Amino acid sequence: MASLNDIRSTFLKYFEDNGHTVVDSSPLVPRNDPTLMFVNSGMVQFKNLFTGLETRDYTRATTAQKCVRAGGKHNDLDNVGYTARHHTFFEMLGNFSFGDYFKDEAIPFAWNLITREFGIDPKRLLTTVYHTDDEAFGIWKKVGVPEDRIIRIDTADNFWQMGPTGPCGPCTEIFYDHGDHIWGGPPGSAEEDGDRFIEIWNIVFMQNEQFEDGSMKALDMQSIDTGMGLERIGALLQGSHDNYDTDLFKALIEASAHVTNVAPYGDQNVHHRVIADHLRSTSFLMADGVMPSNEGRGYVLRRIMRRAMRHAHLLGAQDPVMHRLVPELVAQMGQAYPELGRAQTMIEETLLNEETRFKKTLDRGLKLLDDEVSGLPEGAELPGETAFKLYDTYGFPLDLTQDALREKGRGVDQAGFDAAMEEQKARARAAWSGSGEAADATIWFDLAEQHGVTEFLGYDTEHAEGQVLALVADGALTDRATSGDEVQIVVNQTPFYAEAGGQVGDTGLIRTDTGSAHITETKKVADVFIHFAKVDEGEIATGQGAELAVEHLRRTAIRANHSATHLLHEALRNELGDHVAQRGSLNAPDRLRFDFSHNKAVSAQELSNIAREVNTYIRQNAPVETRIMTPDDAREIGAQALFGEKYGDEVRVVSMGHSPTGKGTDGQTYSIELCGGTHVRQTGDIGVCVILSEGASAAGIRRIEALTGKAAVAYIEAEAARASELQGMLKAKPDEVVDRVKALLDDRKALNNEISALKRELAKVAGAGAEAKDIGGVKFLAMTITGVAGKDLQTLVNEQKDALGSGAVLIISDNDGKVAVAAGVTPDMTDRVSAVDLVKAAVPALGGKGGGGRPELAQGGGLDFSGAAAAVAAAEAAIAG
Ligand code: ALA
Repeated sequence: MASLNDIRSTFLKYFEDNGHTVVDSSPLVPRNDPTLMFVNSGMVQFKNLFTGLETRDYTRATTAQKCVRAGGKHNDLDNVGYTARHHTFFEMLGNFSFGDYFKDEAIPFAWNLITREFGIDPKRLLTTVYHTDDEAFGIWKKVGVPEDRIIRIDTADNFWQMGPTGPCGPCTEIFYDHGDHIWGGPPGSAEEDGDRFIEIWNIVFMQNEQFEDGSMKALDMQSIDTGMGLERIGALLQGSHDNYDTDLFKALIEASAHVTNVAPYGDQNVHHRVIADHLRSTSFLMADGVMPSNEGRGYVLRRIMRRAMRHAHLLGAQDPVMHRLVPELVAQMGQAYPELGRAQTMIEETLLNEETRFKKTLDRGLKLLDDEVSGLPEGAELPGETAFKLYDTYGFPLDLTQDALREKGRGVDQAGFDAAMEEQKARARAAWSGSGEAADATIWFDLAEQHGVTEFLGYDTEHAEGQVLALVADGALTDRATSGDEVQIVVNQTPFYAEAGGQVGDTGLIRTDTGSAHITETKKVADVFIHFAKVDEGEIATGQGAELAVEHLRRTAIRANHSATHLLHEALRNELGDHVAQRGSLNAPDRLRFDFSHNKAVSAQELSNIAREVNTYIRQNAPVETRIMTPDDAREIGAQALFGEKYGDEVRVVSMGHSPTGKGTDGQTYSIELCGGTHVRQTGDIGVCVILSEGASAAGIRRIEALTGKAAVAYIEAEAARASELQGMLKAKPDEVVDRVKALLDDRKALNNEISALKRELAKVAGAGAEAKDIGGVKFLAMTITGVAGKDLQTLVNEQKDALGSGAVLIISDNDGKVAVAAGVTPDMTDRVSAVDLVKAAVPALGGKGGGGRPELAQGGGLDFSGAAAAVAAAEAAIAG
């Protein structure tokens, strides 16, 4: 029996042998479509190839595409578990032609694969064509399908559209007849919804494009898009009409039976089916970067998870079980989709955290639901307020409540639920407007209320399409902005990071069909992302689809700085102690800054240890992992939180590095922090980290500035260039430079001493002619010299004092435009005259003031050497008293 893995390979190989390029499945979150929540068919990643916007180096492709239908136009969530063929996650096998072959090749390709490769009995097959498509009808006839088994259909069933806009066209479908022992009628008949005739392959003739205004235009080229659900064809080839009877689903259902201890195929089978299906969609969504949250895609993920968890609960599971099923899923599908294995730990942990948390309210919520229902009249709907209470207090998504009621044959008063939701929003808003925040933020709150918050895609991609929801200029809404205008743009989803947590906002480009703008800054208010833009050309209008592209190199540098900040934080704690806590940070493209509590300077040795540790973890090149958990759980695994920061119900936790003495559930994780920022994939992407400076930022707070990546390398290069210039100048080898400079400094000191001594000798020679005078019994020697300053002048005075034996000495030196004066008195004369008085008497004539010292030796200064003779005379007068 061919397994689903075999069937997938056979399909891809068949088309590869027929000239098709095998292309990987795209991620489940579409990067190229603002209107689509999840990729829901194989053609999504090729959308722009059909419309001619993009070309690649192939015109034929084949894929096995991961699809999720749990929201938007194609939504199968409600039916999962209760039917044989609905899934929230499935794989679509497809072959594509982009202006290459058309109907007359696409139909035989499909027919031959099914009847020859897969060996399906042609007598069991019938086909449908769009009612006016005589060409397709003719081709089917030619491959051998009898006319009475080619059915013309005049409804949308045979006209395929991906979503409200985009490429589309008439299609032809292949059906399999399971036989008259199963109820159901052929397509187009009143009984078509039965299980007897099952559609297995849809071939779309892509020849139109649907636009927002309702118009449809013919495309320039004719293309082919096909889709065959792997689970369906698998069931058929494995002899069943139930997708959940295939090898892959049986393995998952049996794993579910094993962990819940409930027989797989008995009465409780429906629960196992829901669990198996939801395990796939939730795991694949997480592997593609969607994390549970209360908004947008993350909320769809959470809803699916919680539905599965309720079904596990109905099977009597006391402890969380979903995470225990992941290994079986990876065993089944990990080879075809390696991203699943890579994300396995993160998926298991997230499921465990979510289930542990939901279990706390699930029991009580279900009890409330039972109590309420038992008091309701037969068949009555559950009041909307109760459903809202279950949502708001017990974390029951509305569809979970509906799913629970479905078993009891009841519905929910949806209008009542919506009204209760509206009331809550109004209360939140009233509370906000009373909080005294700036009034100009009102516009963003209005937008949040009208459109919901902006969905951030930038953890996983730097390019995405979004829809322009609002344009704001000078504080007011506007419909359009034209070349030269400065405008703030709000889109439904964006890859641009809005400034938060020390990380600067992204910059980049936004482009619509009619114009383009560059984005200079991104901020957010009320979780509405505000793109500050300047329109470069054309015009941008509300309602348009827009391509958004983050400036890649800048973002790359920011990521490196942010991840390095986490490593730095941990290294600081290891080196300086656990009192180190983050007090602020800046993660800009050109540098990082980190403020932390520590009450003394970090020594050079400590800094170098810290830098060495950071770089060790960079070189470890460990993956950077993110997950979502409650703040309490995060703290329990040792995550660093920001002091004084308020956290919501759930936090994003970023971990990196392996350390035998680390933290986390495995006790081996180096750094774990609560963080909403964007990070490198592997620590090695940081490149290198250089600490530039350390200093005080405020009392008890130190600040480190550092560089990473390219900036760090540029810095190192500049330093190296300086070092090599020095080596050249000193004619020294690198390890000789320091000794050589030390020797030069020592030489310089010795030379300076020698110069001073020589100057004093010179002065002595110059002043040699001076004779001591007797002034009232005090011998007084006055000298005027040049070129001796400060200390040396004092030495000279002392020498002259010694030569004199008894008396007073005054020396005035003209020294580079300044005048130095020093006086000395031998000890036996200090009761007659003080050196201080002599200096004080002399300086006014030299254009100076003051002077001071001791009675034996004093010093002063002036600016005017021409007053030297007058200064000497003043000193003489002072001695004479
Ligand atoms: N895109 C087509 C489908 O999903 C093939 O059915």
